[in-house]
Amino acid sequence: MNNPATPLLKLDGVETYYGPLRALSDVSLTVAEGTVKVILGSNGAGKSTLLGTIMGVLDGQPQRGTITFRGQRIDGMATEKIVRAGISYVPEGRRVFPELTVSENLRVGAYTVRDRQSTRRTLERVHDYFPILADRQTQPAGTLSGGEQQMLAIGRALMNEPELLLLDEPSLGLAPLLVRQVFDIISQIRDEGVTVLLVEQNARMGLKVADDGVVLEGGELVVSGTAAELVDNDEVEELYMGAASTTPEPSAESDTSERGAQRGARNDVDLES
Ligand SMILES: Nc1ncnc2c1ncn2[C@@H]1O[C@H](COP(=O)(O)OP(=O)(O)O)[C@@H](O)[C@H]1O
Ligand SMILES: [Mg+2]
Repeated sequence: MNNPATPLLKLDGVETYYGPLRALSDVSLTVAEGTVKVILGSNGAGKSTLLGTIMGVLDGQPQRGTITFRGQRIDGMATEKIVRAGISYVPEGRRVFPELTVSENLRVGAYTVRDRQSTRRTLERVHDYFPILADRQTQPAGTLSGGEQQMLAIGRALMNEPELLLLDEPSLGLAPLLVRQVFDIISQIRDEGVTVLLVEQNARMGLKVADDGVVLEGGELVVSGTAAELVDNDEVEELYMGAASTTPEPSAESDTSERGAQRGARNDVDLES
């Protein structure tokens, strides 16, 4: 069992480079078991790099610092071992296998789970979260709408029965109704005991679901605190809340649009201009 005093995930002094470019500088944070932590920050702040570093998908990174999961070092570990250790990752852009059916995509997600009965239970849970996936079992994943593909990507990550789920901008380009649905499911997932580390540009939504969070700017943590503290933080409010609340919400069409258009639909929170 885990000592409750030990955070589920701990980063200490993490530095990640792309060649000569330092994308993360001295990042230290902890994620407590059973919580949702949100990583906020504008485009290019290093949010995706942070998740990629945790998952070991960036060659030779982190160059400095340590990452521990349940007290065990995972930096430098192969991604597959990190997944087996209990961390699932939904990268930016809802990647599913388009040629495989919905049901095949979900089964691929369960590749680390030996116990068939357990896989069946997890599949039922995923179908409860996302009834649409049960309805579309035999449909090729590439024919789903953007929102449905995001649900499939999250569902597939859950099939691994993770203790920690890393989500990179799950609301990107989704219609407002679907955004709300995805965030509802994130809090349900947490209530069922899965810890979540969530990357969001949409601070308003992110802080609604999160227990606590951090703000990344230029690869450095500039603010950290409970969700309530962050909501009250002037810097967060000025940088993110204001920007997110004064522009129109994306249209329903953006749900099925191409990725470029989805980025465009997110200009409500795109602070780089
Ligand atoms: N594969 C890469 N090669 C070189 N630079 C990259 C690469 N990926 C990201 N970067 C740079 O690293 C910084 C952080 O990017 P990223 O982590 O994607 O930010 P965010 O997810 O917060 O938008 C940016 O300056 C970006 O241009
Ligand atoms: Mg990103």
